[in-house]
Amino acid sequence: MKELIELVDKHLDEYLPVCYPEDIFKAMKYTLMLPGKRLRPVMCLETARILGGDMTNVMPAACAIEMLHVQSLIHDDLPCMDNDDFRRGKPSNHKVFGEANAVLAGDALLTFAPQLIIEKSTGLNPEQILKILHEYTKFAGAYGLIAGQVVDIESEGGKFVKSPEETLDFIHLNKTAVLFRLAVRIGAIAANADEKTIEEFDNFAKKFGLAFQIYDDIMDEISTFEELGKTTGKDKNSGKLTYVSLYGLEEAENKFRNLIKECYGIIEKYHSKVFEEILKKLSDRIGSDK
Ligand code: IPE
Ligand code: IPE
Ligand code: MG
Ligand code: MG
Ligand code: MG
Repeated sequence: MKELIELVDKHLDEYLPVCYPEDIFKAMKYTLMLPGKRLRPVMCLETARILGGDMTNVMPAACAIEMLHVQSLIHDDLPCMDNDDFRRGKPSNHKVFGEANAVLAGDALLTFAPQLIIEKSTGLNPEQILKILHEYTKFAGAYGLIAGQVVDIESEGGKFVKSPEETLDFIHLNKTAVLFRLAVRIGAIAANADEKTIEEFDNFAKKFGLAFQIYDDIMDEISTFEELGKTTGKDKNSGKLTYVSLYGLEEAENKFRNLIKECYGIIEKYHSKVFEEILKKLSDRIGSDK
């Protein structure tokens, strides 16, 4: 896992050299190169590997997913969104570069990511690249991440079109699970996996993503800035719809544990140390009965 993270860090740095106008490239690189957990690219690479693919072929796409993720973080922190002053232990992008450049840095990452896939995926064939770009555009936009973020922000007002339970699952599956789904789907496509296998990994990522966002909701309530590198207690203050606000802490933890257990059930046959390490790390903090 550590080696994979280092590999991702090295490639992220190489793929994005700073050129003129430096302000935008510096803003893009700032949040990108801060120490994130790199879960999405690592899961993409590991999926490709366990399905018999070559990890180096999928490295540009894995890094592209991290760029998309970082775009979502930069925009998520803006004053018009969650208004967070810290990210990955440092001042948020707009605090360092100003709001205009933070918006533009997000836009630039969102568009550079597919450019990177097209230009650098020399080990993949055109059909695989097209499939990957289709997945990317679907999950990054109004059919995925953006849909989740819109309903997340709307939920602060307490007005829902659907029931609170349905609304909450819609938010979490879209704002968070889609990027994990994108990661494993791209890894599987790069390994030329069949549709059934892609769906199996997709199902894993859906459950993992939901668990991951429940974990994030719980941590916002019980953790500290020192542990998370971002301000805590924000969800409650802004009246967000979260697993903790809707179900309470204990029930949120139960739902988290059940999902992690289901994740183990799906992935164990692949004997992946990386996936097991990810699941273990996440559940260590809250506790799970594997
Ligand atoms: C933060 O994701 C956004 C959520 C989906 C909760 P991560 O917790 O993976 O953030 P980094 O990449 O490690 O900073
Ligand atoms: C995570 O939502 C989803 C994103 C697209 C960033 P949050 O708003 O809960 O993420 P954090 O807590 O700011 O990392
Ligand atoms: Mg948010
Ligand atoms: Mg936020
Ligand atoms: Mg959060």
